Amino acid sequence: MRVTVSLIKADIGGLAGHSVVHPKLEELARKKLQEAKETGLIIDYYVYHAGDDLQLLMTHTKGENNPEIHKLAWDTFVEATEKVSKPLKLYGAGQDLLSDTFSGNVRGLGPGVAEMEFEERKSEPILVFSADKTEPGAWNFKLYKIFADPFNTAGLVIDPSMHDGFIFEVLDLIEDMYVLMNTPEESYDLLALIGTPGRYVIRKVYRKSDREVAASASVQRLSLIAGRYVGKDDPVLIVRAQHGFPAVGEVLEAFAFPHLVAGWMRGSHHGPLMPVGLKDAKCTRFDGPPRVVGLGFQLHNGILEGPVDLFDDPAFDYTRRMAEEIADYMRRHGPFMPHRLGPEEMEYTTLPGVLEKLRTRFKKA
Ligand code: 13P
Ligand code: 13P
Ligand code: MG
Ligand code: MG
Repeated sequence: MRVTVSLIKADIGGLAGHSVVHPKLEELARKKLQEAKETGLIIDYYVYHAGDDLQLLMTHTKGENNPEIHKLAWDTFVEATEKVSKPLKLYGAGQDLLSDTFSGNVRGLGPGVAEMEFEERKSEPILVFSADKTEPGAWNFKLYKIFADPFNTAGLVIDPSMHDGFIFEVLDLIEDMYVLMNTPEESYDLLALIGTPGRYVIRKVYRKSDREVAASASVQRLSLIAGRYVGKDDPVLIVRAQHGFPAVGEVLEAFAFPHLVAGWMRGSHHGPLMPVGLKDAKCTRFDGPPRVVGLGFQLHNGILEGPVDLFDDPAFDYTRRMAEEIADYMRRHGPFMPHRLGPEEMEYTTLPGVLEKLRTRFKKA
């Protein structure tokens, strides 16, 4: 059976600023997706949140970029904005809905999307990751570790079905072009690109031996769509695990190091990406630190068995402590780079407004 997994998310209003999704938004979303399940449009769904971003995980048989599925997500976001966010005056009500009209696909309209279609295996473990207060390039580091670094993923060395390596599809967000890169042989070239995560973003990963899809990530950057700062992109990621793909534990291993990502306060600061359980999926200190939740499911005929709340585990306590230390270290830089993002990234924030006022004060040196 061919199944499509669609994870579509949006920030449509925060409870106390940009902290968390209001429970009533999730309630309304569950009702909408339950109706869609009963009509047969989708097979199954799971609604959750990462910080102030509402996450709609859906399974169906309609393939990627299906207008009916995208409309279901769009209508859910719009209805929840109108019925909950606006009456309750939630912060940034409808923040990520950048258009008044829907044209068949949520791509380019604000919401983030990760989708993949595949033949369901005899056993199909699926992992989904949702981050808040960061950008899609945040997955670059994780995806490289998972699919190309044998010091992270033992299977790259010892499992014959993965030993050939993986193919990375990398998008250039500025030029709107993409390139396919083979690992391990082009690892250094791949790193030359994805080490610039604000521009080059991994969209898909395929197993080289049979081109099976292994991972799919959201790539939209709100500031590039809107041409101004409207909040951070807060990306999502779907990964298939086991039996020819990295084991669940190899995927999770990449999250044990809280690497620095762009986002955090006002989308303008570097900070550590901290893995947390759903109960801690809220942003607090300096509107962060940036967080990621990870959920594990077993698919059976498209039904999402689970979830397992993967980072709700003492095995990640040390990572969280390290993230707290890094957060503290970075915070002490206050308004200085490299805590504050560089000028290229700050172009889309409110800083240019301040700099413009100072322009006339300068005299020829
Ligand atoms: P099991 O022997 O528990 O199936 O584990 C195999 C494996 O791949 C562990 O990562
Ligand atoms: P979000 O992108 O999560 O809405 O955060 C925006 C922000 O400015 C946080 O300080
Ligand atoms: Mg917000
Ligand atoms: Mg957010």
